[in-house]
Amino acid sequence: MKAVLCHEYCAPRELVYEGAPRLTAQRGQVVVSMKAAGVNFADSLIIQGKYQFKPPFPFSPGLEGAGIIQALGSQVSQFKEGDRVMVHPMAAGAFAQELAIDTATTWAIPPQMEFHTAAGFCVTYGTSYHALKDRAQLTSGETLLVLGAAGGVGLTAVELAKAMGAKVIAAASTPEKLALCTKYGADETINYTTEDLRERVKEITGGQGVDVVYDPVGAETGLAGFRSLRPGGRFLVIGFAAGGVPAIPVNLILIKRSSVLGVFLGDWIIANEDAARDNMEELCRLYVAGRIDPHISARYPLQRAGEAIEHVATRKVEGKVVLDIESAESA
Ligand SMILES: NC(=O)c1ccc[n+]([C@@H]2O[C@H](COP(=O)([O-])OP(=O)(O)OC[C@H]3O[C@@H](n4cnc5c(N)ncnc54)[C@H](OP(=O)(O)O)[C@@H]3O)[C@@H](O)[C@H]2O)c1
Repeated sequence: MKAVLCHEYCAPRELVYEGAPRLTAQRGQVVVSMKAAGVNFADSLIIQGKYQFKPPFPFSPGLEGAGIIQALGSQVSQFKEGDRVMVHPMAAGAFAQELAIDTATTWAIPPQMEFHTAAGFCVTYGTSYHALKDRAQLTSGETLLVLGAAGGVGLTAVELAKAMGAKVIAAASTPEKLALCTKYGADETINYTTEDLRERVKEITGGQGVDVVYDPVGAETGLAGFRSLRPGGRFLVIGFAAGGVPAIPVNLILIKRSSVLGVFLGDWIIANEDAARDNMEELCRLYVAGRIDPHISARYPLQRAGEAIEHVATRKVEGKVVLDIESAESA
């Protein structure tokens, strides 16, 4: 089979596309013949050695994808060969024609969902649903501020929060990105490159602040988001796409009675397999019912994974970027 491989920490375009050993399914695993993979910001980190997981070289990046089960390991009863599935390898492996993966992070795809849609579904929607429902316990009528709102996870937070009955303020860096957020249901928008985030939140909320902040951006933007919380509000720590951890003063957490809630989808899935499966099934039901509509703004062939990662890492992406694997030349 062929795979996009990282032989040493490198820039996206230094990844190589070459032959790799065929895979076998270990106990509790399936081998998936991959049809498509989703590109995530974290792919740009893992190939530079800046992610929390550091797989041994050579490794194939890729945190999510979709395909058809071609082999079952021992003690796998919930799937059969030929099943259409989406997968979330914890660290890497999806940018390849084959992936061996634990069944804990493998979920069935509804017949209505195409592979390229499924490929970018579980990390984005899975993260936002877990964050909003399980961590923040967002309720109908509450106000949510989403930072990086047109990005992969951000746009799903906008969409799911609307489906949960919240009022959504979407914050992003360009008018085009904000227009996309409005299309996905945002009630209000803030361009944080041209407007003062805190002042605009005050204006929109009549000086109250928001109930919940969803922050995949971090750094100064994340801090401004935290300062926009109402007393007793909840701050969801999703990620640090801007490259820095927001320096939230602990005394402010005390004074504002805030809750700072860490969100780590992969770790939570491993510790809560049944609850994670329930969440993924519910998200698939929302998809089938037409209540969520994954936005894929660019598709690249597997061979051009480096360009696709660069597209995401350089702040150009709206929604998801997906790699087509089915069309890649076979080994
Ligand atoms: N905790 C978890 O379980 C979990 C799960 C998935 C992802 N994440 C994390 O969430 C973050 C976003 O992931 P993603 O895949 O959704 O990424 P993405 O699609 O690239 O979205 C990130 C957004 O951050 C904003 N941003 C601000 N400064 C940026 C910069 N210097 N470089 C790049 N983007 C910048 C961009 O929006 P504007 O241009 O509008 O500012 C961009 O749309 C990452 O840190 C990722 O590791 C965490």
